[in-house]
Amino acid sequence: MLLNPTAVADCLADAPLPWLGGLRASEFLRDYWQKKPLLVRNAFPDLATLLEPDELLELAETEEAESRVIVEDGAEPWEVRQGPFHSTVWRKLKGKKWTALVQAVDHYLPPLADLLDHFAFVPEWRIDDVMVSYAVPGGSVGAHFDQYDVFLLQGPGQRRWQLGEQCNDQTPRLEHAQLRLIADMPVSFDEILGPGDLLYVPPGLGHHGVAQSECLTYSVGFRAPSLGHILEQVVDAVLLDRGTEHLYGDAGRALPTHPAELGLSDVTMLATTLQSWLQQPLLFQTALAPFLSEAKYDDYEPEGEPCTLADLRAALNDGIDLLRDPASRWLWESQTQTFWRNGEVVTVPDAVKPHLPALLTGRRHSAATLAALPEAVLSWLADDISAGFWLPVDGANSNENGSS
Ligand code: SIN
Ligand code: CO
Repeated sequence: MLLNPTAVADCLADAPLPWLGGLRASEFLRDYWQKKPLLVRNAFPDLATLLEPDELLELAETEEAESRVIVEDGAEPWEVRQGPFHSTVWRKLKGKKWTALVQAVDHYLPPLADLLDHFAFVPEWRIDDVMVSYAVPGGSVGAHFDQYDVFLLQGPGQRRWQLGEQCNDQTPRLEHAQLRLIADMPVSFDEILGPGDLLYVPPGLGHHGVAQSECLTYSVGFRAPSLGHILEQVVDAVLLDRGTEHLYGDAGRALPTHPAELGLSDVTMLATTLQSWLQQPLLFQTALAPFLSEAKYDDYEPEGEPCTLADLRAALNDGIDLLRDPASRWLWESQTQTFWRNGEVVTVPDAVKPHLPALLTGRRHSAATLAALPEAVLSWLADDISAGFWLPVDGANSNENGSS
């Protein structure tokens, strides 16, 4: 069973985490996060059997999933093709060195949403998705670097990972429109990862993974907003609040030293005024929450099925768990006690409010925990299930992986 029911609690309690080789989250964050790679053997043994290559390729054939194929020896070197793919394409690629990559597989497979709970030492708004790749022997996406942190988890098969050095815009690259391919990667690490092994790669570190056999690799990928975008959000929020009517005032100004100058005292006065605008209490929280809680896919519309309180009670009796919709982005702003989802504030009944922090801790809630909640909370959940924000899934003790 992939799910460790205490994964979130263990992260937050700073307990030794087996999937980080026994490191505590605080130790990992202090010594490795955004700094250096970490290899852990057998971190997630169940990934060996979670998904079959065929299931991943079928996902790449659907309209909903975002998928790509990279062919090293394709029509041009490192040819990138965008999905969805016709089911015959895999046969036609025979003899080529290719990799199929599917984004956000956690949106479709509840055990992969559970997997994300093991990374609760970083807040959910920093997590992007779980991408899964399938490669034929010799398949690779080339030596490259990414802008974001990634935990590479080996599923079935074996992949040889080589790590290079820290890269940046000056690093010599192969000419390629879409991939940040490194021209010549010096190798500082060279290991073969087998089923269940984990390799953390910090942003900017060159890496190159070559399939040794048919293999699946899971990438738990993070995201980081650009500071320029953050500034735009904050400025927009300030302008919404203040408008553009306020004018610069300079009562008591000193004599200029030159009539054509933009003097230091004017610049300092302007900067001080604008800085005070940026120091409004809660400005950053209210400006950033809608932005950081946007769903990964901006055209995403959750789809639910009508669920009454009685339906929910019956499902809980049958041992059905509830999973927070993995395709929605959930954000709890603790200072204002505001719950944001997919860019919008969610107003909940007063009786539900005290339960919200717990409902937003961990992605899955067991039937037993839910059954003990007051009726008002279950009623709200039934409505929220109907709207598609909670997925009824087989209980963690069941052998099934899919949603029910
Ligand atoms: C892969 O799964 O082939 C590539 C993952 C990565 O390099 O980030
Ligand atoms: Co990469």
